[in-house]
Amino acid sequence: MTREDWMSRFRNFAVAFLLAALALAGACGRSRKARFLVGFSQCNLGEPWRVAMNGAAEGEARKYPDMEVVFSDAQQDNSKQVADVETFLRQRIDLLIISPNEARPLTAIVARAFSQKIPVIVLDRAIEGETYTCFIGADNREIGRAAGEYAAQILNGKGDIVEIQGLPGSPPARDRSEGFHEGISRSPGLRIVHNPVANWLREEALTQMEIALKAQAHIDLVYAHNDPMAVGAYLAAKAAGREKEMKFVGIDALPGPEGGIQEVIQGRLAATFVYPTCGKEAIETAHRILLGETVPRRITLKTALITGENAEKYLDSVRP
Ligand code: FRU
Repeated sequence: MTREDWMSRFRNFAVAFLLAALALAGACGRSRKARFLVGFSQCNLGEPWRVAMNGAAEGEARKYPDMEVVFSDAQQDNSKQVADVETFLRQRIDLLIISPNEARPLTAIVARAFSQKIPVIVLDRAIEGETYTCFIGADNREIGRAAGEYAAQILNGKGDIVEIQGLPGSPPARDRSEGFHEGISRSPGLRIVHNPVANWLREEALTQMEIALKAQAHIDLVYAHNDPMAVGAYLAAKAAGREKEMKFVGIDALPGPEGGIQEVIQGRLAATFVYPTCGKEAIETAHRILLGETVPRRITLKTALITGENAEKYLDSVRP
């Protein structure tokens, strides 16, 4: 073979190789901008608490130029969230952060990522089993218990309660309910007279509260598993002219203009409990794992009871 033949073969080979590499990058959907690629699978961005979580994560991610974080929004749909994680796996992420919509439907895909030796950080809502690297969240049972004790205290151990529940397949709803039952267990005069499911959503809570108001001639307290549902219940009671008859207690305590802290300051909610979004801690922990550090299996973030007495002070403490 002449020198020209070799050169031409080599050129053909180089062109073919380049095309194949481009096709592969195309198939993977993206080209990598940083040393580490992290997939952040959020279960929905329709709720303010989730938007705050992503905001905190984005803010923290700016501190790590060697790490690129891509976000997906499953819009409260388990199958979409499974597909989102599959896309991340095709993009060859180095680490997965996931806040699952519901535990059971997301367990298998998380296990798949973990079995491919991709570290997984699970946020706020657990999966089933142990196939993850680290769980970050607050203790929802403890929050529920504290809410129950608070209800017992402000009602002097006697009264009728409506409990508005979050999405049943998401573990915080179960834990916040069981904890609350424990919290009121030493007060036999407290009764849960109605406990509808409103799937974490304000509008559904409003509708469920309208039904509760028709069914119950008197209600002393509404305990909702998050602030948007507590506010939905308040609005239904107000529309029925009955909001002064009862107290409203929620969970999340977002500091923003429409968050739970403002609701407490304005007197619509009697109390809320801080439920940290874990966005900042997720990114910090991801970076540590990617640098080869060992992190705890469980990172439990702190809660706090917020009432009219400490709401302003709490706002000052979290203002940037
Ligand atoms: C947002 C949210 C919060 C709640 C948390 C529980 O999706 O509903 O309001 O505290 O999820 O997982």
